[in-house]
Amino acid sequence: MSNTSNGNVVHVMRQGEQQRVTLTLNGRECSGYCEPRELLSDFIRHELGATGTHVGCEHGVCGACTVHVEGVAGRSCLMLAVQAQGRRIDTVEGLAPDMQLGDLQQAFQRHHALQCGFCTAGILMSCADYLRRVPDPSEAQVRDMLSGHLCRCTGYTPIVAAVLDVAARRGQGNVSGETVEAAHA
Ligand code: FES
Ligand code: FES
Repeated sequence: MSNTSNGNVVHVMRQGEQQRVTLTLNGRECSGYCEPRELLSDFIRHELGATGTHVGCEHGVCGACTVHVEGVAGRSCLMLAVQAQGRRIDTVEGLAPDMQLGDLQQAFQRHHALQCGFCTAGILMSCADYLRRVPDPSEAQVRDMLSGHLCRCTGYTPIVAAVLDVAARRGQGNVSGETVEAAHA
């Protein structure tokens, strides 16, 4: 604690001092400790143990770390863990409640839309958000959305096919699997 010139008392954190962060991860409230400078991506992986979220560039370019913050896709490497205090965070683990793949994941499987899989968690999270907002996208729109992600393996074509496939199936009412997010919406 430290006194300011106007008499207010402020808490001055020392280097290495940790702060408690409580958030809702895939529908469950959980807490952990972190330094104020810790990235949300590292907090999710190392403190909360949700290692499905991958970390590549750590500066917002590759998209591997994409999660949902209050239902909206965003880079967890561009957000501090303390900024997630009290918020709803969903990760790729939430797409497969009870280890049952959701329809988007099943489409990726059908179309061989992943190889090494490093980019896949982030791409799935972007696709899940995008298809909620744009349920019947064109191929050009899907490719535009995917331009926010780097994939070194697939050439993107099978990913585009998977996204268009799941959009078409949903449009026909042929949906299997439900995300944690949807369940908590
Ligand atoms: S690790 Fe976050 S965008 Fe690359
Ligand atoms: S599947 Fe390997 S980077 Fe996308």
